[in-house]
Amino acid sequence: MKTAEYSPGLEGIIAGTTTISHVNPDLCSLMYRGYDIRELVKHSSFEEVAYLLLKGKLPTQGEYDEFCALLKQERDLPDVLVDAFKTFPKNSVPMDMLRTGTALLALHDPDKDDNSHDANVRKAIRSIAKFPALIAYSYRINRGQEIVKPDNGLGHGENFLYMLQGKKPDAYMAHVFDCSLICYADHGFNASTFSSRVTVSTLSDIYSGLVAAIGTLKGPLHGGANEEAMKMLQEVGTPENAEAWVIDALATKKKIMGFGHREYKNGDPRAFILTEMGAEMSEKLGDTQWYKTASIVESVMHREKNIVPNVDFPTSYIYYLMGLPIEIYTPIFALARVSGWTAHMIEQLDNNRLIRPKALYEGPDHLDFVVRAQR
Ligand code: ACO
Repeated sequence: MKTAEYSPGLEGIIAGTTTISHVNPDLCSLMYRGYDIRELVKHSSFEEVAYLLLKGKLPTQGEYDEFCALLKQERDLPDVLVDAFKTFPKNSVPMDMLRTGTALLALHDPDKDDNSHDANVRKAIRSIAKFPALIAYSYRINRGQEIVKPDNGLGHGENFLYMLQGKKPDAYMAHVFDCSLICYADHGFNASTFSSRVTVSTLSDIYSGLVAAIGTLKGPLHGGANEEAMKMLQEVGTPENAEAWVIDALATKKKIMGFGHREYKNGDPRAFILTEMGAEMSEKLGDTQWYKTASIVESVMHREKNIVPNVDFPTSYIYYLMGLPIEIYTPIFALARVSGWTAHMIEQLDNNRLIRPKALYEGPDHLDFVVRAQR
């Protein structure tokens, strides 16, 4: 049997191969199926990126139109799910509702008992299409509001904003939101993607992998960081408070949310793209408080710790400027990443080997067993 050196948190360990995304910390770049995300943000749409991740190539116009039509056709949810959302405890956490909603969706998928490649692609498209409604419907119902049905005249991202907020976003907001979805769509063997691959490597189904991935994404060391980053900016409050706040936080060994990354030590390309957009958006809206506060936090972190922001830092104040509720930021991450998760699970299943690492046992062995009455 092959043996490898132990690395806490599997840092630096190659756990498999992929052709879906290439995280390159040396070049500070991220490519999806060979295309730089900077190019995709400039020229593409979330729908096109989802197609690229799933099918491995850019669509022709005809393929793109067909894919978008399919996504639109699958946008709504079965009524039984809407009824189920009404039973959720008031003020439930949106990530928990998404996790439960996804598990419920699995029961109603017409391909639920079919684990073939083609059925998995159909399930992937259905889940990409339905995540916006899962998030928006469960959120609105849980907060005592009427649901807003999808508008098929709108693109994927802008339709989500419409279903969540009840009003159509302007073209600029819709564009920035779409770019953020592109940036969030995939990222190598990150924790949530890896957990989804581990799940299906037992030949379990795609929905079980999605439930595992959502649970993994929720934590503040992963996707949960975008919500925590905004709460932190609110606590900092103003640009004037920012330097002292960071110094104090570092002195008390606090983690600054939205900073640092296991792979990128010199910069996260997604953060560069979105920081620029955050600056532009703040100027356009005439609301620069959060961007200015964030910029000072960023420069103090760089000076004191040489640690730079990750994707979750700029999205926090971008989504805040869009008027989105903070507890919905991590579900938005999931709304984008479902495209990457499903592509990875299909890749795993197409060439499967059970993922089952070894543990380095550090406990005692061969203890004498003493019966309970004599302990
Ligand atoms: N704030 C303060 N110090 C930090 C931060 C941070 N955000 N990130 C890393 N450090 C420090 C650590 O305290 C540690 O210092 P030490 O060596 O003096 O103990 C050193 O940098 C190395 O950090 P690790 O946590 O060991 O690095 P690791 O690669 O394990 O962690 C992680 C990466 C978990 C993302 C970490 O940077 C972190 O906790 N960041 C905050 C949460 C966050 O933003 N998560 C989102 C990640 S991106 C994503 O999931 C999309």
